[in-house]
Amino acid sequence: MNLKSKIRSVLDFPIEGIDFKDITTVLKDKEALRETIKQMAEKVSNREVDLVVGMEARGFLLGTPLAYEIGAGFVPVRKPGKLPAETISYEYELEYGTDKLEMHRDAIFKGQRVLIVDDLLATGGTAVATAKMIEELGGDIVGALFFIELDELKGREKLSGYSVESIVQY
Ligand code: PRP
Repeated sequence: MNLKSKIRSVLDFPIEGIDFKDITTVLKDKEALRETIKQMAEKVSNREVDLVVGMEARGFLLGTPLAYEIGAGFVPVRKPGKLPAETISYEYELEYGTDKLEMHRDAIFKGQRVLIVDDLLATGGTAVATAKMIEELGGDIVGALFFIELDELKGREKLSGYSVESIVQY
């Protein structure tokens, strides 16, 4: 199945000049959804994974079914103020201003093998922040897996040192 053809591009969303990659058209299509999770699982079939860490919000939509498929647990990375128990956080630079992500302090135990999963790799800022928190907790990152990768934004370079994989590239 050609998964790229199932992704809807929406020009000028959320702001002018952005060609937004909308995965809702993949999620609502039962065959495309199944195929997406299957292809993501195949990418990591040679690796032992204890936990999938997925980033709010779209990372949850693919990260949790993937974790289920490969027999791993799932840990959410959330925007500030959403997680109820004790958290750690990581602040990172955006083009204008900063952003912050949080994770529960007890989400990962030292030495657990962790796979980072998100719907999309753009600049890599979100994934790097996630990687920093996982490492602060002593997790062992076995790779970062994305459904979509925007090549031009070079997120892969920011993640050098990690194994980075994606299913569909633009
Ligand atoms: C999008 C996407 C990734 C991130 C990628 O999330 O789902 O998490 O941006 O961008 P980066 O590689 O430049 O960091 P967004 O912040 O739009 O949040 P959402 O999933 O809650 O819509």
